[in-house]
Amino acid sequence: MQTTQTVQETRAALASLRSGGKRLALVPTMGFLHEGHLSLIRRAKAEADVVAVSIFVNPTQFGDPADLEKYPRDTERDLALLKAEGVDLVFMPEVADVYFEDSETIVETTRLANMMHGAVRPGHFRGVTTVVTMLFNIIQPDVAVFGEKDFQQLAVIRRMVRDLHIPVEIIGGRTCREADGLAMSSRNVRLTPEDRAAAVVLNRALDMAERLVRDGVTASALKAAVAAHIEAEPRATLRAVDICDPDSLAELSGPVTGPAALMISAEFGGILLIDQRVATP
Ligand code: PAJ
Repeated sequence: MQTTQTVQETRAALASLRSGGKRLALVPTMGFLHEGHLSLIRRAKAEADVVAVSIFVNPTQFGDPADLEKYPRDTERDLALLKAEGVDLVFMPEVADVYFEDSETIVETTRLANMMHGAVRPGHFRGVTTVVTMLFNIIQPDVAVFGEKDFQQLAVIRRMVRDLHIPVEIIGGRTCREADGLAMSSRNVRLTPEDRAAAVVLNRALDMAERLVRDGVTASALKAAVAAHIEAEPRATLRAVDICDPDSLAELSGPVTGPAALMISAEFGGILLIDQRVATP
């Protein structure tokens, strides 16, 4: 497994790794890896001959400098996990390897980036699309894998790639869960034991929602049922329930007759957790 820091080093290493026309997959991450990230890497291995992973805590997607500062890091552990997965190259740049002091170019999906999670985190998705474009340009993968768990992020990236004709195939990886159904996240370790136990309500609400969609329901009744289920858990503070078209993220209304993306976010002791499911009638 090779590790690189600069753009030049990375391009040189990849030129030899992909010689003979090998198919290259990229899995972008911010490190502090868990089983969810590793599941994306396994998916990438199944899709390509060579797998590159990037570890870069991207400053432009954090609104609050304190959040950026607090972001957990454990490079040594990450590298051991990636080596065990048989990853070929790990790109670990410093901020100055990616951004110039006077960088002024941004990439933004103007509508999708500024709704839902984007409306409460201004600039977040613009930071994501800008850095992902740079990672695509530096690594030039044939395919890139992103988690469905961050459903709006996946929708934003698919839209950007389509709109800008970026020649990268985007694959959505399934959400990897703990044994009790809680979606894996680096934030889970910050929950108190009581909040950790209560947080399974998110997955349970989605299970219930999936059943309701299968049995036939209107979007507004579905939204109300999901909200009521989460609000019945005293440790949960519901932030949002969105029932929307999986591609455009446009809010659905009336009877749910096709695939519906259910996106929920709730706080447990001040820690914001998100989860999602695409349900089909
Ligand atoms: P990060 O939060 O490190 O996540 C990296 C990838 O892992 C994302 O595609 C995310 O959706 C996926 N992921 C997280 N939890 C998962 C789970 N439980 N199951 C499956 N996949 C999961 O998302 C980012 O980094 C950044 O915004 C990035 C895309 C790297 C741009 O900076």
